[in-house]
Amino acid sequence: MSESHVETNYSSRQSRLEGALKAANLEAIALNAGPSLTYLTGLHFHLSERPVVGLFTPNLSPVIIFPELEAGKLANLSYPVQAFSYGEDPGKWQTIFLEGMQAAQFDGRRVGIEPRRMRVLELDLLEGTGLITEFTSGEECLAELRMIKDKNELANMHQAVEIAQGALESVLSWIKPGITEGELAAELTVGLLRGGSDSQLPFTPIVASGPNSANPHAFPSDRRLEGGDLLIIDWGASVGGYLSDLTRTFAIGEAEDEMKRVAEIVMEANEAARAIAGPGVAAEDIDRAARQVIVEAGYGEFFFHRTGHGLGMESHEEPYIRDGNSLPLTPGMTFTIEPGIYLPGRGGVRIEDDVVITTDGLESISDLPRELRIIGD
Ligand code: CO
Repeated sequence: MSESHVETNYSSRQSRLEGALKAANLEAIALNAGPSLTYLTGLHFHLSERPVVGLFTPNLSPVIIFPELEAGKLANLSYPVQAFSYGEDPGKWQTIFLEGMQAAQFDGRRVGIEPRRMRVLELDLLEGTGLITEFTSGEECLAELRMIKDKNELANMHQAVEIAQGALESVLSWIKPGITEGELAAELTVGLLRGGSDSQLPFTPIVASGPNSANPHAFPSDRRLEGGDLLIIDWGASVGGYLSDLTRTFAIGEAEDEMKRVAEIVMEANEAARAIAGPGVAAEDIDRAARQVIVEAGYGEFFFHRTGHGLGMESHEEPYIRDGNSLPLTPGMTFTIEPGIYLPGRGGVRIEDDVVITTDGLESISDLPRELRIIGD
């Protein structure tokens, strides 16, 4: 909190978008409610039965089409907008969309959208205007913009990690035989909210014990922890819409020798990935560094997911740390490093950190102990 807070400059993000559009051979972009719209405008809309879109065209003020009842959100913006609102009659939507698209001068343009976000509801209204507009994927162009985090974004992510780490420490005394995965997940959720996370958590904490820990995306169940279990906890907090996403593995009371060995291998893999990462290094090389450790130890077939994913306003975003992604890393990129080994029917170990590329290497934002912690006896 020592550094003074600088307001996010949305106008400068909007002008950066103009450069990114040019590079992507696009002439404009149309976004519905979601992180990219928030990134460019600071506006938070929920996806609901009422359509919301932001239309961005170089040299024009953004056009926002939205329901009248949300007009308050557009008061006191630090940049000019062209606002088009509608009342409770869906019969008026098409006309408002036509007015908005004309104001954004979309006729005859090639416009980027987000294929994984844009809904049929909004796309139908955009296409139903009769204007000659070509809609195509703008995903890469938006990823390009959002991948490199500024000072404010990094400050939020640091805080989101701090809150998550504090929440885990606050539930350690609950980790013991007899408690269910669901109960532990509930305590952790309370810890996250009490610690100051945004009310909307990035995801429901994963608490997976015993054989369940061999499933990387297990949901908390009513299984009770038992002595000898491995326990994977994968959790995160959100601050100002920016997320953390961490994983640590515990052993209840004691662990088999092989599992202790597996935990050491995963820790080495996590370390190897962090050691090699830096500006100019390809995303796939980080994946390779982690994977090599696990393959050489003889567990390659039990590490069956990518080493990490970008992290920011979404819990999975660019850059993906996977084989085949030759994207060179750049200072300000944030992502997870989370190798794991999963032995079916027995248990798994995963160690996940949130990291940022710096000018001379990599900083791990998370710093909780990574070794297998034996707990609960
Ligand atoms: Co993750």
